[in-house]
Amino acid sequence: MIDFHSHILPGIDDGSQSIQESIALLKEEYGHGIRQVALTPHFYAQKDPLLKFEQKRAEALQHLLDATKDYENIPELYVGAEVYYFPSIGSSDILHELCLSDTSVMLLEMPFNQWTEKILDDVEKIIFDHKITVVLAHIERYYEFQRKKDIWNEIFSMPLYAQINTGSFLNRKKRFCLKFIKAGHSVLLGSDCHNMEYRPPNLHLGREVIEKKFGEEKLHEIDILGEKLLIKNENT
Ligand SMILES: [Fe+2]
Repeated sequence: MIDFHSHILPGIDDGSQSIQESIALLKEEYGHGIRQVALTPHFYAQKDPLLKFEQKRAEALQHLLDATKDYENIPELYVGAEVYYFPSIGSSDILHELCLSDTSVMLLEMPFNQWTEKILDDVEKIIFDHKITVVLAHIERYYEFQRKKDIWNEIFSMPLYAQINTGSFLNRKKRFCLKFIKAGHSVLLGSDCHNMEYRPPNLHLGREVIEKKFGEEKLHEIDILGEKLLIKNENT
């Protein structure tokens, strides 16, 4: 089982604020049967230059690795970012640095307003010009802003993957999420956990809802897709 979206790295964004909390989150994930976790701290291009972000991320990761080196029951960690869309991102030359460890997979957070042709064009460039596998973060959180359904449909006709937050299977977005899966889209699951209190690891709970609706086979399909995306690039 893979958690494709988390804010477990300590002290880098609005997620875990301490090494103790990060360890508790990882133990909780492992206890739920998760063996691979994507660490995806927020990256806002307007706020932090890439080098500063990379430096903070490397320090946070080292801190976490040092603190967990004697633990056996910790998931394997993949380090990337939750990259918030910025204008002309499709022409940016920093995108591969933001992909998950030794892969060409990038978690992209889209704007929380009506998407435009320009945004579509950028996403297309990320996929085709940069040869990056795009995973759109928590797709269920944008739908209410998309009045132009043709743009929404165009995005999901591209070769990209949709990540759904498992917490959304437990709230009013459940109906949308199940409908999206039923429509045949390839999805990945993430807890988007930030802390143990109000945004805790809940991948197992979302999976229960999916299993109840579509059967174990669907979960298997999701897991296989996740494993395929985490295969490391050759020569890295
Ligand atoms: Fe997130």
